[in-house]
Amino acid sequence: MRKYYPKPHFLPETCEIPSKEYVFMGYDDGATMHLDFINRLMWQAQLKGSKTWHLIPPPECEDSCSQFSFLVEPGDAVLVDTRVWYHGTQITRGQFSLSVQSEYG
Ligand SMILES: [Fe+2]
Repeated sequence: MRKYYPKPHFLPETCEIPSKEYVFMGYDDGATMHLDFINRLMWQAQLKGSKTWHLIPPPECEDSCSQFSFLVEPGDAVLVDTRVWYHGTQITRGQFSLSVQSEYG
């Protein structure tokens, strides 16, 4: 996978990047609300199609944070601590979605 794209420019120079990436693809679907059980922070880049992310703050932040949603399109990148923010996605109706994800830290 790494031969198809450079290290994302938005990551700090000193961050470590594990050796695996994830590819997510789907049509008219998405991910149900969940937390990730991963070791590091993650980034995800949208390559094809669009989808809406829904984020719900962790209980410790409920008094000052609100849930929110946003649309990602090809070329957009998302950096969220998915270990503490509940998140789900919904692919835009009628579209095929393709994204790549990795961790950093
Ligand atoms: Fe996730």
